[in-house]
Amino acid sequence: IGSPVADTLGRPLHDIRFSVTDRCNFRCVYCMPKEVFGADYAFMPRDELLSFEEITRLARIAVLHGVEKIRLTGGEPLLRKGLPELVGMLSKLTTPAGAPLDLAVTTNGSALAHLAPALKEAGLKRVTVSLDSLDDATFQAMNDVKFPVKKILDGLDAAHAAGLGPIKINMVVKKGHNDQDIVAMARHFKDTPFILRFIEYMDVGTTNGWQLGEVVPSAEVVARINAELPLEEIAPNYSGETSQRWRYRDGSGEIGVISSVTQSFCHTCSRARISVDGKLYTCLFASSGHDLRALMRDGCTDDELSDAMASLWRNRTDRYSELRSLNTARPATTPGPGAKKIEMSYIGG
Ligand code: GTP
Ligand code: 5AD
Ligand code: SF4
Ligand code: SF4
Repeated sequence: IGSPVADTLGRPLHDIRFSVTDRCNFRCVYCMPKEVFGADYAFMPRDELLSFEEITRLARIAVLHGVEKIRLTGGEPLLRKGLPELVGMLSKLTTPAGAPLDLAVTTNGSALAHLAPALKEAGLKRVTVSLDSLDDATFQAMNDVKFPVKKILDGLDAAHAAGLGPIKINMVVKKGHNDQDIVAMARHFKDTPFILRFIEYMDVGTTNGWQLGEVVPSAEVVARINAELPLEEIAPNYSGETSQRWRYRDGSGEIGVISSVTQSFCHTCSRARISVDGKLYTCLFASSGHDLRALMRDGCTDDELSDAMASLWRNRTDRYSELRSLNTARPATTPGPGAKKIEMSYIGG
């Protein structure tokens, strides 16, 4: 009922990301600022969320169209009740040729010390953990809920001990907030099993008040580290990888930089996103999605669902980051007048 698909620019569907909850226990200033996501913020009601069965059904069909990688995100995915059970269901899927899938979670790490063993047991391959600083004052100013660094480091250790690797660490760099910690972070994770990646602060959503002036270009990140810890560039692991890889010349590991603002990677983007409530988005910056949950809840067959997914992907034209960088007249934050971008916690990082 399916076969590999490519979009209008020849990009295959290789990667599907599910946001499993729009809630989070952090209020990172670049993602869920407190002024917007306050006590009275209306999160998605429970019955609007895709069930584990619905997520697994979509994943099973996506795999028939070429998907080899499934990532669970949010919000904070570990807050979704019973997450190991969902992981258990997804980990039984294989490619049509019978190969295992890459099954990963992107988490803020706050519940990893507690959940890492159960996730591993359920069949999770690896985790990617967000950590913006090693300094408590800086980290807490960014997560805005006074969450301490130490607990994230404990979570990382628990994930490592459970065998959830290779473990990557994502640091969103925001100028004037945590860029003073770039080299300290590099030093700390050099010569450890963790791969640190620096992410350019992106203009995703409409609530974070993004400004180009708060972006530290990846070239500068690399230059600052290279001045103290010499680096050389290495080849990507796979086509469409978000991150550019650099390794320490002394052989003590690698780092990555994700440069969606200064060096967009749309030309190889093979990622589909499914929002908490089951809409398929073909771009992180899309202003609308396609309601696959409605199809499922109306009783569509697997064939119909499969055709819907394939035709959405075949018609895909998205290359938001590329267009933004070409559009020097309007290097601003929105795709155009009246367009409304979707929050990352809803669509999935
Ligand atoms: P690997 O599977 O380990 O290569 O991870 P990944 O880089 O695909 O996923 P991760 O969740 O760690 O994403 C890292 C960062 O890249 C996040 O901040 C995302 O927002 C950003 N990112 C991921 N995919 C896209 C994308 O398609 N477009 C843009 N602009 N940014 C993306
Ligand atoms: N810019 C860049 N990265 C972001 N993330 C969340 N919001 C933004 C943003 N505005 C990151 C998180 C997480 C990943 C999924 O996305 O820190 O590591
Ligand atoms: Fe939560 Fe991650 Fe967003 Fe921070 S970046 S508010 S941890 S979902
Ligand atoms: Fe893919 Fe859209 Fe990101 Fe470009 S901006 S890499 S098309 S998700």
